[in-house]
Amino acid sequence: MLSLKTLKLGVFVGLVAVAPLTEASGNSSCRCFYGDDCWPSDSTWNAFNQSVDGRLVATVPLATPCHTPNYDAKECKVLKDGWLLPEEHYNGKSTGASALSVWTHHLKDIEIKDWKDKHYTGKAAKLGAGVQGIEAYEAAHKQGLRMVGGECPTVGIAGGYSQGGGHSSLASKYGLAADQVLEWEVIDGNGRFLVANRNQNTDLYWALTGGGGGTYGVVWSMTSKAHPDGPVSGLNLTFTTTNISDDAFFKVVELYNTHLPSIVDEGVMSLNFLSNTSFSISPMTGPGVPLKKLESLIQPVRDELHRLGIKYVYESEVFDHYLAQFNAQTPLVEVGVAQYGSWLLPRSIMQKPSTNHELTNSIRTVLARGATFTTVGINVAKEVSGDVYNAVNPAWRNAVAHTLMSTTWEFDEPKKMLAKREEMTNVLVPSLSKLAPESGAYLNEADFRQPNFKQAFYGENYDTLRKIKAKYDPHCLFYGLTAVGSDEWTIAESGRMCRTTSAQALRHEI
Ligand SMILES: *[C@@H]1O[C@H](CO)[C@@H](O)[C@H](O)[C@H]1NC(C)=O
Ligand SMILES: *[C@@H]1O[C@H](CO)[C@@H](O)[C@H](O)[C@H]1NC(C)=O
Ligand SMILES: *[C@@H]1O[C@H](CO)[C@@H](O)[C@H](O)[C@H]1NC(C)=O
Ligand SMILES: *[C@@H]1O[C@H](CO)[C@@H](O)[C@H](O)[C@H]1NC(C)=O
Ligand SMILES: *[C@@H]1O[C@H](CO)[C@@H](O)[C@H](O)[C@H]1NC(C)=O
Repeated sequence: MLSLKTLKLGVFVGLVAVAPLTEASGNSSCRCFYGDDCWPSDSTWNAFNQSVDGRLVATVPLATPCHTPNYDAKECKVLKDGWLLPEEHYNGKSTGASALSVWTHHLKDIEIKDWKDKHYTGKAAKLGAGVQGIEAYEAAHKQGLRMVGGECPTVGIAGGYSQGGGHSSLASKYGLAADQVLEWEVIDGNGRFLVANRNQNTDLYWALTGGGGGTYGVVWSMTSKAHPDGPVSGLNLTFTTTNISDDAFFKVVELYNTHLPSIVDEGVMSLNFLSNTSFSISPMTGPGVPLKKLESLIQPVRDELHRLGIKYVYESEVFDHYLAQFNAQTPLVEVGVAQYGSWLLPRSIMQKPSTNHELTNSIRTVLARGATFTTVGINVAKEVSGDVYNAVNPAWRNAVAHTLMSTTWEFDEPKKMLAKREEMTNVLVPSLSKLAPESGAYLNEADFRQPNFKQAFYGENYDTLRKIKAKYDPHCLFYGLTAVGSDEWTIAESGRMCRTTSAQALRHEI
């Protein structure tokens, strides 16, 4: 884990963590750390600050205003109110002790344009690296367009979200967020400002598009497809376990999963949240799908609920455009209160009654341990994503579900938290991954301790991605937990980064 305690210099929480280049004298396998003789002098930092027009920010730990002697009630409240929102911190990838971060939040330019090449002709949006999902949706909406972005409105759309794949309510119709990207502007690890698309720097384009954020360079802008907007139908359905047996509850769960492949094949994305006391589809989104059609897809589940005498709440509505449906039906997703683990499930699991039943048993295991179980039902197969060239984890193409497990974070009981962490890695995730060991997991929402993460997060793309990183970031300036190349470093308790022994050998090869 990276400790913020020791973070003394750097630019406030950004999207990309950059390790100081100089390596510690007398210990060439480690990066310079604050306090080391090799740490840059004040005059070096000042010169650097001048070179960036005085924009260098010396950071303090994020929660400083909430602690003496720097306690500030007002600032602390602002921080607490926003603490659970994903833009505050994501998967530990964007922070590091004695690291320099690049804060891209204020790069807000949005330009709607026409794009024409042999792979795509149509509208596109060029988005600065700091543009947040909701800002892109609103800008597109004003031009009668919609864009593939996340369910969390504040997550940056050009950052790790699209660079790592990016699932969306619109993905079963258009593909993942990465599948929309036409071009990147990026500053690579050699300090070059590059344009990467399918005609120039194509290897960098391929890697940035799905191969993970904060790894190959600092993205300055992303140009992505924007699609003609139109009606979007949506529905939600909820019931609780009150007065019903476990068997009845899981009968409905199993039936829903049986129908999932046919639901997503209609261009629909369906979010299903399960806890040990509730079942909720919230929402099922059908861009361009007539409401009657959307309703027919969930009718078998409603019939079963009637048959079993289970009371449920159900609402459906057709909206004029995507933004209206997004604002009305998207749930607020909180992070920072839970730990996560995930696995991508191929459609073959749901299509075969015996394996679908095994899935139900796995879900039972997860819920019985007090964890929640979320299914992001989605179809981003090649037929949907179309003519794309990118490093999206190949496991996505056969998947119909990104399954996500979470347990609450034990803030005051570190021992209990460590036990829960072990449970996530050794019990919960394996209960899903054993159903499809050859599949993988979505790198942006997964167990940060996922064993064999290279295979799970990147599949057969890993080795190629590592070579591309070596070309564009030869000094390993960019580091992120579970990012490509990250296994070549170890992070000590203090936050100090050192090369692993095997990586020292590798360095001579690349
Ligand atoms: C050098 O690196 C090793 C880890 O590779 C670490 O254990 C040791 O403390 C480091 N020494 C110094 C002087 O930083
Ligand atoms: C960088 O320069 C600006 C303007 O002179 C100053 O306000 C800021 O504190 C400096 N940053 C650091 C880290 O010294
Ligand atoms: C559960 O059963 C009780 C007693 O029959 C009834 O009063 C209550 O409304 C039921 N609750 C639900 C959610 O079905
Ligand atoms: C369910 O959909 C209805 C109809 O659009 C909407 O009014 C309601 O807020 C939705 N419920 C949730 C929990 O999102
Ligand atoms: C349900 O899950 C909660 C945690 O979310 C846990 O405290 C509770 O004990 C669980 N109940 C059962 C019956 O498993």
